[in-house]
Amino acid sequence: MADNIKRSWYKEMAVYQIWPRSFCDGNGDGIGDLKGVLSKLDYIKSLGVDAIWFSPLYKSPQKDFGYDIADYRSIQPEYGTLEDFKAVLDGAHERGMRVIMDLVVNHTSDQHEWFLESKKGDDNPYHDYYFWRKGRGKLKPNNWMSTFGGDAWEYDENLDEYYLHLFAKEQPDLNMDNPKVREEVKDIMRFWLDMGVDGFREDVITFISKDEGLPMSPYFFPLGTGIEHYMHGPHLDEYLMEFKNDVLSKYDCMTVGEAPMMTPEKALKHIAEGDNQELNMMFHFQHMEADCLFNVWVRRPFDLKKLKRVYTNWQTKLYGKGWNALYIENHDQPRIVSRYGSERFRVESAKMLAVMYMCQSGTPFIYQGQEIAMTNCPLDDINDYVDVSTINVYNIVKKIVGEKKALKMAHYASRDNARTVVQWSDRKNAGFTTAEKPWFTVNPNYTTINVASQEDDPDSVLNFYRKLIKFRKENDIVIYGSYKEHDHARNDLYAYSRYLDDKKMLVVCSFSDKNVRFDAPEGFELSEGKLVLANYSPCGVVNNSFTLRPYETRVYLWE
Ligand code: NOJ
Repeated sequence: MADNIKRSWYKEMAVYQIWPRSFCDGNGDGIGDLKGVLSKLDYIKSLGVDAIWFSPLYKSPQKDFGYDIADYRSIQPEYGTLEDFKAVLDGAHERGMRVIMDLVVNHTSDQHEWFLESKKGDDNPYHDYYFWRKGRGKLKPNNWMSTFGGDAWEYDENLDEYYLHLFAKEQPDLNMDNPKVREEVKDIMRFWLDMGVDGFREDVITFISKDEGLPMSPYFFPLGTGIEHYMHGPHLDEYLMEFKNDVLSKYDCMTVGEAPMMTPEKALKHIAEGDNQELNMMFHFQHMEADCLFNVWVRRPFDLKKLKRVYTNWQTKLYGKGWNALYIENHDQPRIVSRYGSERFRVESAKMLAVMYMCQSGTPFIYQGQEIAMTNCPLDDINDYVDVSTINVYNIVKKIVGEKKALKMAHYASRDNARTVVQWSDRKNAGFTTAEKPWFTVNPNYTTINVASQEDDPDSVLNFYRKLIKFRKENDIVIYGSYKEHDHARNDLYAYSRYLDDKKMLVVCSFSDKNVRFDAPEGFELSEGKLVLANYSPCGVVNNSFTLRPYETRVYLWE
């Protein structure tokens, strides 16, 4: 392996993400919980993953389903207790899986005791934990808008001041410029690391430093006017470095930072390997914009060339310098087969998409339900949606395009698409709960799409994921190889190759629902390579070319 490629456990692992409320209900109250997780640890292990990332489990009023934390050191009672968490942590470790917690420190809940204190007066020691500002006469302190829609300021009559919230109004932003706040963050990190957790996914961590004086924005951007003043703020490096030097570097742990509007060039400032590395990886969003303009609510026809451009950019610019975090689904994104794949060719396209992103260099993250190719779940009535951002954005969009169209947009874009309960079986409520009714919708397609029916089917999406994760683990070329894209001009297929020492690998993915022809690039003699992964039974190669059936994928290896 080249000298600039350094092995590390966080690079070799595959991670399974749990959004606890909808994963599995262990106590029969209709809400997912830690007892449910404990009962599924063997299942998670059977996927071949090496770690679990938990979306927030902490005590929270659940206005943003846990991303509004009221107490960083206790577990949401609906999910269980700290003892239950320790049992899951031990159970995961016993099975050789690490546990990664969600660290949400750009903001707290408005029910956190710091915020409740901060409201008591501007002489309260916690007042400066948040951004409290006077209005400009009758106007708000500046023109920033929340990324969930609406103003980013909420008025408090008692204080006659406004507080900043870049997300829901129940999520006041923490003032990270206050050294006491940074000490709190470090204490929270130590608390969980000392308990034995193995790292953090850091929520919108690139938003934690705001431009001094919170200046007005000259631009209007309905979901985030002002974003240029905090998406990559002036003290970001300094604060991330402080967290690393004072805490993270003292543990054998990993970090992945969520980073909206991130580019590879900017990412490298934070994740480039070496003494100045602040985070191990970053979740960027660029590859989730192939069917939209910045935000999935602003839908555009799927553009494969845009997707390939983004992947190639990240794969080549980071190679040998930093590490990619690979994902195609999470709790904020609609289901991928309903976006980049095809519900008609659900099984084929789900397998192809899995190969497409997991055969790249980086650490793959798999979101609950992705491994069985769960689909979007359009709801008939806006009142059936539960996600705060869906409801806020719907209410704004409705004024422009009308109710019917706005609901149609929500069907495609809502985060609730990914938050329906995991479909474990074809039993009542998809086997998620024994309660009469689960807390949220069960996608009606659970009778055909569920874990139980895929377990024993060798051709299921579930077993394909298992095969793929194992293949990656057993072949360094998938993890550490360099990358080259082929046939960029084609808008029906994505082909790339990987290289490590004297080995090479070719990955071909069709994004078409028709048959398409593929001519292998020069230097790739298919008859000499081994077909190691495929989602159809093999069919002939003639003159180093073959025809791909709808959403077909093939991976060839030369060693
Ligand atoms: C990103 C999280 O992934 C999302 O679910 C949450 O709503 C926002 N950050 C605010 O915490």
